[in-house]
Amino acid sequence: MPISPNSPTSSTGRTRVVIQLRDVTRVYQVGTEQIRALDGVTLALHENEYIAIMGQSGSGKSTLMNLIGCLDRATSGSYHLDGKNTTEMADAALAQVRNERIGFVFQSFELLSQLNAIRNVELPLIYAKDGWRSRRKRAIESLEHVGLGKRVKHKPNQLSGGEKQRVAIARALVCKPSILLADEPTGNLDTRTSAGIMKLFDTLYAEGQTIIMVTHEENIAAHARRVIRMRDGRVISDLPIEQDATSQHLSSESDRGTES
Ligand SMILES: Nc1ncnc2c1ncn2[C@@H]1O[C@H](COP(=O)(O)OP(=O)(O)O)[C@@H](O)[C@H]1O
Ligand SMILES: [Mg+2]
Repeated sequence: MPISPNSPTSSTGRTRVVIQLRDVTRVYQVGTEQIRALDGVTLALHENEYIAIMGQSGSGKSTLMNLIGCLDRATSGSYHLDGKNTTEMADAALAQVRNERIGFVFQSFELLSQLNAIRNVELPLIYAKDGWRSRRKRAIESLEHVGLGKRVKHKPNQLSGGEKQRVAIARALVCKPSILLADEPTGNLDTRTSAGIMKLFDTLYAEGQTIIMVTHEENIAAHARRVIRMRDGRVISDLPIEQDATSQHLSSESDRGTES
């Protein structure tokens, strides 16, 4: 399969491009002030890539994830998802694309507290044409897939942090999305629980899932195969994990070199 001319070198390299951003900006207007949260981002992301997006707070990571996830639109530039130009889609069409192709996982889980695990995971299936029996079956399968087969009737307050995040991951996967987007998925979890969640992500990746996650922890990013670093709304580095690790090592050495 031909590689599009502007695709960066990627870990998996030759697979199909699923996400193509071209010169994307996102400008927030707050009173009289304009904030350029994204300032000319061009990226090609491929099927079955495992990507970590890193950068300081305020660098535009969540804004980028919201755009990729079709929760928001670019101020200028274009975004093609699975070859379709989302920039030109009506809101309803965009919502449908989001529901069918994107699975979201957030730092704060975003579960509905009054619903048990099955009912939370079923939510995205309301738009699918399945009857309730089929929805229930798919929700339970998704919960089993993330190792929660024994917790399907528990409500969020009856689950640990790691279990809540697994419910959220089961919900994200229940529609079999092309892309799993995770914004600081381990941000509210302790080290040991985070390791369990990352092990699950690694398994999903090995099964063929495309994963894009935001993190500010290097050891979490180390699970990915490609690391995109942002600053002030721009991509400042985009490297396969091995090269990223080397360049981080070098930049931390030069930091030390400048210390007196
Ligand atoms: N809804 C919004 N309205 C106005 N400014 C926003 C909004 N969301 C984010 N910003 C600003 O855009 C910049 C990027 O934010 P964000 O994408 O949340 O960064 P990150 O996720 O890397 O911490 C920040 O300066 C932030 O204050
Ligand atoms: Mg953020």
